[in-house]
Formats: sequence, structure tokens, C-alpha cells
Amino acid sequence: MIKEKFISVQDAIKQCKGKVAVRGWVYRERGSNAMKFIVLRDSSNIIQCVLKKENFEKQWKEIDGLKIESSLELEGEIKEDKRAPTGYEIAVSKINIIHIAEDYPINKDLNEELLGDRRHLWLRSRKMTASMKIRSTVLFALHEYMHKNKFTEIHAPSMSSATSEGGSETFEVKYFDKKAYLTQSWQFYAENFVNAVEKAYAIAPSFRAEKSKTPWHVTEFWHFEVEGAWMNLSDDMIVAEKCIEYVIKKVLEENMTELEILGADVPKLKKVKAPFKRITYDEAIKTLIKHNHNIKYGDEFKSAEERGLAKYYDDNFVFVTNYPLELLKFYHGEDPKKPGTGTNFNLLAPRVGEMVDGSQREPDLKKIVERLKKAKMDLGASDWYLDSRRYGSVPHAGFGLGIERFAAWICGFDTIRDSIPFPRTPTRLNP
Ligand code: 4AD
Ligand code: MG
Repeated sequence: MIKEKFISVQDAIKQCKGKVAVRGWVYRERGSNAMKFIVLRDSSNIIQCVLKKENFEKQWKEIDGLKIESSLELEGEIKEDKRAPTGYEIAVSKINIIHIAEDYPINKDLNEELLGDRRHLWLRSRKMTASMKIRSTVLFALHEYMHKNKFTEIHAPSMSSATSEGGSETFEVKYFDKKAYLTQSWQFYAENFVNAVEKAYAIAPSFRAEKSKTPWHVTEFWHFEVEGAWMNLSDDMIVAEKCIEYVIKKVLEENMTELEILGADVPKLKKVKAPFKRITYDEAIKTLIKHNHNIKYGDEFKSAEERGLAKYYDDNFVFVTNYPLELLKFYHGEDPKKPGTGTNFNLLAPRVGEMVDGSQREPDLKKIVERLKKAKMDLGASDWYLDSRRYGSVPHAGFGLGIERFAAWICGFDTIRDSIPFPRTPTRLNP
């Protein structure tokens, strides 16, 4: 067979009649004395293929014994067939068996733990393939949006001698005869290099040594982070919501097949339009009390409250701003119009909860040092971070968005573990 003639299963379905050549893996198979039905899977879709024994006398023994996940090249005539899983069937005239698979160790009865052990194979499932494709669109669209808007892509190191977001959630690694920490966020670096490039972003892994086993936490996640000199809180939220709107539009353009495979809520995606609703922490507390949550001003939101808020506000994204300073990290600015509260936001999404965390930063060295003292924090080897406030400090803002939380929300998954090919959790380091 000549390579160029192969088309994707999806393109074959689009072609809908005539001769086609496709290749892929056996997704399902069943046979009788005279016929073999193979549902062939490639990265694009599945299609039913039928082989008649009378056309393959010499190869029949091999064809008859084909097991799932065997790899094949097939040629034949495609036609509509309403009974077939994707509405079309190929009457095969030529088969080239590439590899006959051993008994496949994945079946319907496997629990989550066993599927985790066989994750490298489970990725072949239609669900995971669709998920990886949507994830790829999300990443590409974010890069595209940021480049179009003149943000410079800059990476920070993944290892350094000090932590950024907080001590206990940091992975310590051996660095020759010293200790190093895996990055939790690029923010400290970004707040320095925006004084050079002004508008910056990165998409990179962040590491959190969190023992939490919630569906929305992994220990290694991909972090989309943005930082801009001269940006205020409002500019920051606009960048966040525009990115999200852009990405969702792109997924709707590029990934309808995958969204259908996943049974994703397409009307929900179409409903996402910037600007998103904005409320303050104060209003959020009142709304939660109205909906019978046991909470008062000054409490941190638990995930049920974050998810609840998005639900109560039109079951859509909602920005919550102006958290009490005591709940915030030292680097968030204080709102002069609402003293005691931050120029910060969390963007909450239905079902997921916190998806983005950002703020206009505290630009004043004296104030930031006071905040550090109050929090009994010592930046240690990260003291260089404060140089951004020593030499031409400017107003600036930024945020971080968890790629898996965003992708899982788009796909309608119950956990972010379905939005990353090899999730890392407190109990999972392999494969
Ligand atoms: O809220 P976080 O911890 O904020 C920061 O790291 C800031 N320095 C970001 C910045 O302003 N540049 O993390 C930001 C986002 C969260 O809103 C969430 O979406 C995601 O990162 N995230 C996680 N995703 C998966 N698993 C985890 N363990 C996560 N921790 C945070
Ligand atoms: Mg946060």
C-alpha cells in the first residue's frame, strides 16, 4: 500500500462514498463463519469495517483471530449504514495486518486504580484521545491569543533554592549537595521580568506537594500565568476572561467531533461570553448566607461554596474580588477604595470552583515588607524578588490559571485527572 492514500477515519466518513484507505487499531471485533466485523479506531474517530471470508480465503485464519488493539491498514468501499456505530461502513477489499495484539489488559470491569496502572493504554480510549486533543487546542489557543496581544512568552526555572507560594506545599529535591524546590508558580520571576518585557506569559508545569485527594487537585499541573507592567485589577480580569472566551470559541471551531464523543455540554460552552459577572467577596458572603451556607465574613471559601457561587450566578463564570487581606498572600495589593481588602480576584467556574487566581500586586516596598512581617514570613533566598520594588517599581498585575481545571470544565469531566495524560497525585507516580 502507498502511504499517501491513507486518510483519517473522520475524513473517510466525510467522503461518505467511494474507495477509501484507512489505518488504525481494532477497537471492537466480532465474527461469524463467513464474516468479520471490525470497528477500526484512529485518532480521529471509529468506523465499522466488514470483511467477507470469500474475499480473503488465504488470510482468513489471521483475520478471524484478530484481537482488539491489533494494528491494520484497510482499503475498501465506504457507504452509509445507519446500524454502524458512526453511521458508515467500509466493505473491505484489501487488508494489511501490521501487528497482532496480545490479549488487551483493559476491560469494562477495571476499577480506577487498575486503569491508573494501565494509563499508558487507557489513553487510547476515545474519551482520553478526545481529551488530549481538546487540551492541545486549549494550549495552542492560549499561545495564539497572548501572541496576538503582544505578550512575550518567558519561562522561569522549575528548580530554585527557595519556595514561592508557600513552604509546606513544596517538593524538595536533591540538587548536588544542596536542597532545591520545584516551582509552584513563575510569579516571583515574572514580577521581575515584566520590568523588561512589560507583558509576559508562560505555560509550564507547577508542582504542589498537596496531599489533598479532591478531583480538582494534582501534584503536577500545567500553569498558564500572565503578568503585565502597568496593568491594574480591571485590566487583569479582562485579559483572563478574554483568554477564556477565545479558547472556548477555538475549541468549538476545532473540536466538535471530540466534544460530541465526550458528550460535552455545547450550549454551555456557547453561552460563555466576556465580560463575566463581577462580585466582591462581601457580596459573595451575603449570597452564600442567602443560600443557607454556614459562613461569615472573614472565612475562606471551601470548594462547595466556590462551586455554589458560580451556580447561583447564572451557572456561569463569576469573578469574586476584594477578599479580606488576611486571607491573601503578601504580594496582593490593598484596594484604597475598600481598605482591608485586596485588589485581587478568584474566577470561579460551575462544578470546578476556583479556576483563576490573580491580582494587582502590591507595588510599594515598605507595605510589602510590613505584610511579610505580619504574616511572619521570611523570603529567605527569594529576597531578590523584592528588587522589583526597589528599582523603578510600577503598578502591575497578573494571574494563574490551571490548564487541567479549564480543560476539564470544557469537557464536562468530574475530575482534572481526565485532562492530563499522566496525572500525578499523592499516590500515583507511575506510569
Ligand atoms: O491559586 P494559585 O495557587 O495561585 C498562584 O500560584 C499565583 N502565583 C498565580 C499568579 O498570580 N501568577 O494557583 C493558580 C491556579 C488555581 O486557580 C488553579 O486553577 C490552579 O492554578 N491550581 C491547581 N490545579 C491543579 N492542581 C493543583 N494542585 C492546583 N493548584 C492550583
Ligand atoms: Mg488560589
